[in-house]
Amino acid sequence: MAFAFGKLNAYQKAIDFAERLNRAALSIAATIAEGDGRVVPGLSCLRALRRGRQGDIVWFHHIRRYYRVGEGRETEDDLPLAEKRNISICVPATGEEEWQAIRESLETGWLTQGPRVATFEEAFAARVGVSHAVAVSSGTAALHLMLAAFGIGRGDEVIVPAFTWIATVNAVLYCGAEPVLVDVEPATFNMDAAQVADKITERTKAVVPVHLFGLCADIDAISVAAPGIAILEDAACAAGATCKGRQAGTLGKAAAFSFHPRKSITTGEGGMVVTDDDSLAADLRALRNHGQVAGGSSGRPYDLGEFDRLGFNYRMSDLHAAVGEVQLGKMDAFIAERRKWAGYYNERLSCLDWLRTPIVPEGCQAAWQSHVCMVDEAKSPCSRNEIMERLAERGIATRPGTLAIHMLKYYRQRYGFAEDDFPCARESMRCSMAIPLHNRMADEDYEYVADAIIAMG
Ligand SMILES: Cc1ncc(COP(=O)(O)O)c(C=O)c1O
Repeated sequence: MAFAFGKLNAYQKAIDFAERLNRAALSIAATIAEGDGRVVPGLSCLRALRRGRQGDIVWFHHIRRYYRVGEGRETEDDLPLAEKRNISICVPATGEEEWQAIRESLETGWLTQGPRVATFEEAFAARVGVSHAVAVSSGTAALHLMLAAFGIGRGDEVIVPAFTWIATVNAVLYCGAEPVLVDVEPATFNMDAAQVADKITERTKAVVPVHLFGLCADIDAISVAAPGIAILEDAACAAGATCKGRQAGTLGKAAAFSFHPRKSITTGEGGMVVTDDDSLAADLRALRNHGQVAGGSSGRPYDLGEFDRLGFNYRMSDLHAAVGEVQLGKMDAFIAERRKWAGYYNERLSCLDWLRTPIVPEGCQAAWQSHVCMVDEAKSPCSRNEIMERLAERGIATRPGTLAIHMLKYYRQRYGFAEDDFPCARESMRCSMAIPLHNRMADEDYEYVADAIIAMG
């Protein structure tokens, strides 16, 4: 049986058709002759490659790749196993619109911070619901800039969770201040508010809760535990997340976001600081650009502005911002899709007593930056690491959730930490496992991942 399509978009139509026809079948192959699309249901990809005409393209639905007939890949040894997929932990979902946006930016000649940065900032501020958004070169730069603009410096202490990406804690050290670690709650991986009060001293200048993996930390409880102390959010993973109807990024004095490709929207590298505070925003803008204030505002050709403080070059380029603006327009759809499939994983994997899937507390909407499970090694068929290796053999990428800061060599040596100092962070690093969840996965990929984990016993 063959289905012919018109010349236009025959390739894409064939793929769409194959997907609609039988989303679960691994064996569907779409063979597309030059200028003439044919979908051949029931024909294995390999057979399609062998039988196809020279130059035909065969779409390998299960690995979402195509091969051309005559490339010398007609034997099983040359090709990935039909039943084995290749599922990355994250693939950024960029496409034609992002290309177009970059091209337009290139054509304007604005390659550094320019008009696209300004429009991206405006759009991001509007989406989060804040007065100011300041785009920077990475999430780490956003954290550093936020702390520096807030006036964190030598002699200050900043409370941070013990389980987070290293950037959260490094940023405190960049300012010459001291990070004070607090353990996390096992259920959410977020800062345990109950342990915050004990860590406050007269030097505590701020608390930096992290909305880990896209789930908001319990800011209300943290505010009660740290009355009068500024909350500066590490919202690197949480663009689009909400808690009790409030957006991540509006829960403290300021917030830092990341647009690293593992986040829900990406600019490649990139970050953003948001705040409602006008004077903080002015400081953020000055510090981002070498400490320049009133840059050339007189319009005189000799006016390079004034530099009244030690700043940095943390500017975002217009190329990155152009991508970010397109991505921002897709963010809600990305998150909705991730939410759907996170729910699917949670339901399918609920039959395993050795795997704890993530929870979302009442009143919160997670952005699902990652789907991070905990392996209970007392009940699991093998250790977390062996499970990860076995999944890798099946073409499924996994990662530990993130880092227990006190177990990293630099921090161990600097502060003399012992592993047991932060037991939940230690266990979270040892036994957490992020499984693939991103906007480039096919429905069958999710089924394949769930099946592979369940098949372990
Ligand atoms: C919690 C957290 N904070 C900060 C960062 C730093 O962001 P970036 O990688 O964009 O510098 C990340 C990114 O991985 C993160 O996960």
